[in-house]
Amino acid sequence: MQTRDLPIGVFDSGIGGLTVVRQIRNLLPNEDILYLGDTARVPYGTKSQETVVRFACEDARFLVEKGVKAVVVACNTASAWALPALEQRFGLPIGGVILPGAEAALIASHNKRVGVIGTAATVRSQAYREAMLERSPNARVFAQACPLLVPLAEEGWFNHPVTLKVLEEYLTPLMIEQIDTLILGCTHYPLFKRTILRVLRQIAPHPIHLVDSAESCAVHVRRRLAELELLTSSASLGQIHPFVTDEPSRFSRMARQFLGVPIREPELVQLRELRPE
Ligand code: DGL
Repeated sequence: MQTRDLPIGVFDSGIGGLTVVRQIRNLLPNEDILYLGDTARVPYGTKSQETVVRFACEDARFLVEKGVKAVVVACNTASAWALPALEQRFGLPIGGVILPGAEAALIASHNKRVGVIGTAATVRSQAYREAMLERSPNARVFAQACPLLVPLAEEGWFNHPVTLKVLEEYLTPLMIEQIDTLILGCTHYPLFKRTILRVLRQIAPHPIHLVDSAESCAVHVRRRLAELELLTSSASLGQIHPFVTDEPSRFSRMARQFLGVPIREPELVQLRELRPE
C-alpha cells in the first residue's frame, strides 16, 4: 500500500478528541482514521508535564506501530506539553491543536486581545500564549482554566442552568480584559459553543469571535498532508477505527455526541510502557 493511503492516526486522553475527528472527517471524508482514546488514564488535564509527555509518547507509538501516515494530537493538554518530544521521537508528520488555534485567533482578532480557555495543565503550559506571542509580539493573551467543563460535557449538560452559571463564572474575568476573540482550547469545549455564545451575549460588551481549535486543526491537517503529497488517492468514504484503553461500552455510549455520527464498537487495547528519551 502507498504511504498516502495509510490511515491518519489521532489520539486523545479519552473521548473528547472525537470533536477533532469530526472536523477532519468533514474536510477529508475519504481518509481512514485510527483513533486512540486513552480512557484508562483520562483526564490528562490535571496531570504533570512529565506524566502527560510519557502518556502521549505511548499513545503515539501505538498508532505508529499500527501503521499510520501521520499523527494528530487531538488533546490540547498533550499538544501543549508533548509535541516537541513526539516530533523528536517519531519520524513521521505530527501535528497538534495549539498552533492552528493560535494562528486562527490572531487572524480573527482585531484588537489582539485574545482569551484562551482550557484544562489547568494547558493553561499552566502557556502554550497558546507562547505560540501567539512568537507570531505577534504585541498580542495580549489571557488564559482561564475551566476544569469543571470536561465533566459537565461528559454528563451531557450542554445547556443546563449549572453549566450556564459555571461558564459565567469562568468567562467574566476575560471580559474585564476586553478580549475580542476566545479560543476553545480543549477537546470538549466545541460542544458548548452555543451555550458559550449565549453566555457571552449576556456578559460581553461586544461580540466575541470563537475559535474552535478542533476546526483549525483539521484545516491544518489538510494543508500539511497536501503539501507532503499524503492525501489519500481513495474516492470512497474512509473508515474510522476506534481503540480505547478502558471501558469500551462507556465510549460507545458517548461517542455519538462528540462525533456527530454513529461509530463502530471500539477495540480494547493495552499500551506498552515507555519512558520519554
Ligand atoms: N482532552 C483534554 C484536552 O483537550 C481534556 C480532557 C482531559 O483533561 O484529559 O485538554
